[in-house]
Amino acid sequence: MTWPKGVNHRPFKPFEWSMSTVRVTLFQPHPGQIDILHHPARFKVVACGRRFGKTETGKILLIERALAGRIGWWISPTYRMADDVWRSLKIALNGAIQAKNEHMRRLDLVGGGVIRVCSGHDPDALRGAGLDVAVLDEAAYLHPDVWRAAIRPALVDRRGEALFLSTPNGRNWFWGLYMLGQNPAYADWQSWRFPTTANALIDPAEVEDARHLLPERLFRQEYLAEFLADSGRVFRRVEAAATVTPEVGPQPGERYVFGVDWGRDNDFTAVAVLAAHSRRLVALDRFNEIGWSVQRGRLAALADHWRPDAIWAEANSIGGPNIEALQYEGLPVLPFTMTAASKGPLIESLALALERDELALLPDPVLLGELQAYTLERLLSGRFRYNAPPGGHDDTVIALALAWHGVSQTGASISFV
Ligand SMILES: Nc1ncnc2c1ncn2[C@@H]1O[C@H](COP(=O)(O)OP(=O)(O)OP(=O)(O)O)[C@@H](O)[C@H]1O
Ligand SMILES: [Mg+2]
Repeated sequence: MTWPKGVNHRPFKPFEWSMSTVRVTLFQPHPGQIDILHHPARFKVVACGRRFGKTETGKILLIERALAGRIGWWISPTYRMADDVWRSLKIALNGAIQAKNEHMRRLDLVGGGVIRVCSGHDPDALRGAGLDVAVLDEAAYLHPDVWRAAIRPALVDRRGEALFLSTPNGRNWFWGLYMLGQNPAYADWQSWRFPTTANALIDPAEVEDARHLLPERLFRQEYLAEFLADSGRVFRRVEAAATVTPEVGPQPGERYVFGVDWGRDNDFTAVAVLAAHSRRLVALDRFNEIGWSVQRGRLAALADHWRPDAIWAEANSIGGPNIEALQYEGLPVLPFTMTAASKGPLIESLALALERDELALLPDPVLLGELQAYTLERLLSGRFRYNAPPGGHDDTVIALALAWHGVSQTGASISFV
């Protein structure tokens, strides 16, 4: 999501702390952030959509406590995220820093307060006694032992507080803490859930854009901050879409598009045949014969039978020479280069088509199994990684996604010679 231009000049005035000699300037918290910062609970669990202002909330709380002489730690899941926070804390606190240790990422402030910034990679390095406050950013992506074994014990002697900030990551340990905060029996705990739009500085049109581009569940997790029971699952309504009976050959007036995923090592080569007008998967072939020329021969025979307008084939590694050889034989093959950037939209477009009943499938058990097992992992960079689960295959998923890509392309047809 792009942050609206000039946002920092909007009505949010900086707010300042003045001690006798130092002045620290931060953003004026927005109303959602104020709710969290002012609440008296000892353990605060905040589940928010992307760009709500989680990290900023944590920085404000930590700085406020440290300027009051407290000892506080910041914990991020990765070194890079910890580094970003470390750099911005040094800038914000410039003038209040008495001593700085870059190696330990530790600031000693005027007035006796201390801030350390850590990454969650090594829970052992996190062991330390006597904390007043801990901020765990993107907590749902930290290992639960960071909290249970390292941070929680360090809060015992000074009865320290903790702030957990994150977008949900399914119903993992962070969800467990969120549920504690919803339970009146746990008076020390309080939890909140805010969608991205609770940040008044976010342009709602940006969020609406994301709603249209992302599969529904991804949008619900990342922007509405919902804790989804099977958050990693990509394709919905798979069984309901499996209504097509296999067809033996091309129908008059119909157009056909192929999607091809080449097999590697123990994998299969898969070919999906989509009827472009009626938006149905009418045939699916999957084979792992030895030798590329045999495999190309099988694909050429299929093409001879269905006479497709276009064959979209994965172009990575072995795909390149295979595509060239098939083009040389006169097949209408178009290359698709699979990268982290191109794979996301390819898969999301197929997921949307199934969700919206725009595509009907053959009830092929391999295909349905691969679609149902296909997973999405959110990386800390904010990007997503789509994959078969470890040990699983995804060749029919990719072949189908490529064929769907071909069908949804306009003007991409090539005549068959
Ligand atoms: N109260 C505020 N006033 C002005 N700008 C703010 C405020 N809170 C946050 N921002 C700005 O909004 C942007 C998003 O804030 P922040 O990084 O804290 O959000 P986040 O929820 O941690 O986002 P992400 O999901 O990407 O980690 C940042 O550029 C930040 O500086
Ligand atoms: Mg953040």
